[in-house]
Amino acid sequence: MKIGVIGSGYVGLVTGICLASLGFKVCIIDSNKSKINKLRKAKVPFFEPRLEDILHTVLKKNKITFSTSMRTMISKSDVIFICVGTPQGRSGKPNLLYINQVKKELSKHIALQKVKRNITIFIKSTVPPKTTKSFQDYFLKKNINNVHFASNPEFLREGSAVHDFFNPDRIIIGSNSPHIKQVAFKIYKKIISKRKIVFTSSQSSEVIKYAANAFLATKISFINEVSRLTEVVNADILEVSNGIGLDKRIGKNFLNAGIGYGGSCFPKDTLALSAEYRSNHIFSPLINAVIKINETQKKELLSKIFSVFTKQELSTKSVLFLGSAFKPYTDDIRDSIGIFILQELSPIIKDIKVYEPIAYKTSMQALKNYKNIHFLKDLKSISYECFHFIVIATEYDTFSNLKISDLKRLKDCMVFDGRNIMSKSLLENNGIKYFGVGR
Ligand code: UDX
Repeated sequence: MKIGVIGSGYVGLVTGICLASLGFKVCIIDSNKSKINKLRKAKVPFFEPRLEDILHTVLKKNKITFSTSMRTMISKSDVIFICVGTPQGRSGKPNLLYINQVKKELSKHIALQKVKRNITIFIKSTVPPKTTKSFQDYFLKKNINNVHFASNPEFLREGSAVHDFFNPDRIIIGSNSPHIKQVAFKIYKKIISKRKIVFTSSQSSEVIKYAANAFLATKISFINEVSRLTEVVNADILEVSNGIGLDKRIGKNFLNAGIGYGGSCFPKDTLALSAEYRSNHIFSPLINAVIKINETQKKELLSKIFSVFTKQELSTKSVLFLGSAFKPYTDDIRDSIGIFILQELSPIIKDIKVYEPIAYKTSMQALKNYKNIHFLKDLKSISYECFHFIVIATEYDTFSNLKISDLKRLKDCMVFDGRNIMSKSLLENNGIKYFGVGR
């Protein structure tokens, strides 16, 4: 079975490269020529653990090719995965420009090449309900009857996407066609047992993707809301998260209070879901509240800093800022709360030194116009006595291991921990002022 992948972004590359490592012949296409040239030389354009190593291997084994030509890809494929971006558009709705272009191009080339064999197309891009059905209808209207569409959402987490690809909790296939079932089994049986491949209608599958992300975002906003209470009643949100998370019905995951969720999915998908409700003239009070809580939460650490220092005092302060990626082990800074805080702090503070182990290049690029923000290569050679306080914005484990003796050298002896990764008691017992979230 030969596989084509449209789009060499995050989802397309992880999907295509991992499928090639399972032994399938894969052709990945993208309109960006320089990206394709780099991929041919085994260079992945973003950081994702293990992905570049696997690419090296599959290139050597001739299991993968890269192209800018839709025609070439179609001529080589029995199955195609659509993995182009659906970025945030106006009023929260996803912008479907790229995926609609793909629909037109595919139908044009399949008709021109007079392809007679069956082609199965899985839509992995996150799309509003009914999109897959509308694609199928579009092809049928053009009398193309040998192309079968299914929705097949991805649930890959950045930073552990390769692991997630090979160890999925479930595979959702939005189609009830017996032909597509066979194709899905052939592809996914190598990584998951048949009973975990779940077949639904295409609309249900599309809703599953939005609802899964919205549910996880809801857990985060929920615990962030609880953290406001724990703070004023002198409780500790870590104890509360643990106490409620031990209930198996609730579960421990996604109950870490902090400065809110960021990234390329949760902010975009919650807004898209809310827009979908609006388009259908139905209320979505919960989703709207989740979004609103996150908007407030991202200012949480700033409010704490402002409650301690006046603006005039801040204009004399030097800050050591730890983490600017939206989460650890990714160089993605899309909707990163760390970047937001840096942009807010920069105009009012004397200077900021940022240490970001993975996303330093993308962060430097995004903040190049902020002249008082500088990036550090490592933390080894820094003099803590040059800084007044520390701000932590990304939950890298290493930040929790900073030495007490170093923290004591900070001029104001103060840590603002936006991810609750430091031991409050240890710091306070050593005379260091600690500001976490909900503690
Ligand atoms: C998410 C989904 O997890 C994945 O299934 C989907 O396909 C894409 O979107 P990702 O964007 O990589 O993946 O990040 P995730 O690990 O889910 O974290 C999102 C954000 O939530 C991060 O900013 C993280 O710091 C924050 N977060 C996560 C919390 O604030 N608290 C938590 O308990 C968990």
